[in-house]
Amino acid sequence: MRVVDLDRDMRDVIPTGTTRDSEFLFARMTDRTLGLARPGPGRRILDVASGFGQDAIALARRGAWVVGAEPSARMTALAALEAGKCDGPLPAWVRGWADGLPFASRSFDAVICKGAIDHFDRPTRAIAEMARVTRPDGRVVLAIANFDSLSCRWARAFDGLWEQWLGRPPRRGRRHYDVPQDHFTRYDLDLMREQASAVLELEVVEGISLAWGLPGWTRSVGRLPESAARASLLALDAIARRFPSLSDVVVLAGPPRAA
Ligand SMILES: C[S@@+](CC[C@H](N)C(=O)[O-])C[C@H]1O[C@@H](n2cnc3c(N)ncnc32)[C@H](O)[C@@H]1O
Repeated sequence: MRVVDLDRDMRDVIPTGTTRDSEFLFARMTDRTLGLARPGPGRRILDVASGFGQDAIALARRGAWVVGAEPSARMTALAALEAGKCDGPLPAWVRGWADGLPFASRSFDAVICKGAIDHFDRPTRAIAEMARVTRPDGRVVLAIANFDSLSCRWARAFDGLWEQWLGRPPRRGRRHYDVPQDHFTRYDLDLMREQASAVLELEVVEGISLAWGLPGWTRSVGRLPESAARASLLALDAIARRFPSLSDVVVLAGPPRAA
């Protein structure tokens, strides 16, 4: 039996940039995901699990014809409210699950799904659905947190040493390497690549941001002068891009595999 909450309010789990490294990470993740969808006039783009709708609205602003698909009535209503504050072309909002998208095959030039696959109870079906509704020369873009990032590994090892070897109490509450309770899957690069490459010809596999959430780093980068902080974050991001297995977020993109 599938138990679902169609009135789910995800405001508490959608992270907002409260620290400099968080702001950088979420801005880069958004820029790269939206950029890979190549928004522009005449393009038809689907945002799967569109949440508040901010990405669908941004894509529509760049001239694309956009649909935001989201199962939660509450999130869909919040997205419509947000859109009501904006001028210009707006997305269409559709209620729908990622694993049963209510669209004809090959109807979109690009499909994006950002920061959401780990919330899905049927992620492989969802990715197959995204491939189905994308044109053969189109592109599916997936962006997902990497729970095996360098930062997660480092912090996990350090906390293990602190708590188990030194017998000290935990230094903080929920750690960024703990998988939140509302996630069905703990993704790392290998799992994401395996699931995505089953239905997509992967053209892009890259990382975004390095060292996000490491307590010492978050504090240090917060204290640096603006330009030095930006330069450091960009330098780490350039490393992450080449070594996605270590990065904080992984982005994968490509057209559907030929049937
Ligand atoms: C963390 S939010 C991300 C929202 C948005 N993509 C963003 O980047 O802000 C995850 C979203 O996935 C949606 N969701 C959860 N399970 C889903 C499913 N099976 N199919 C489609 N969307 C789902 C939730 O309602 C929620 O809006």
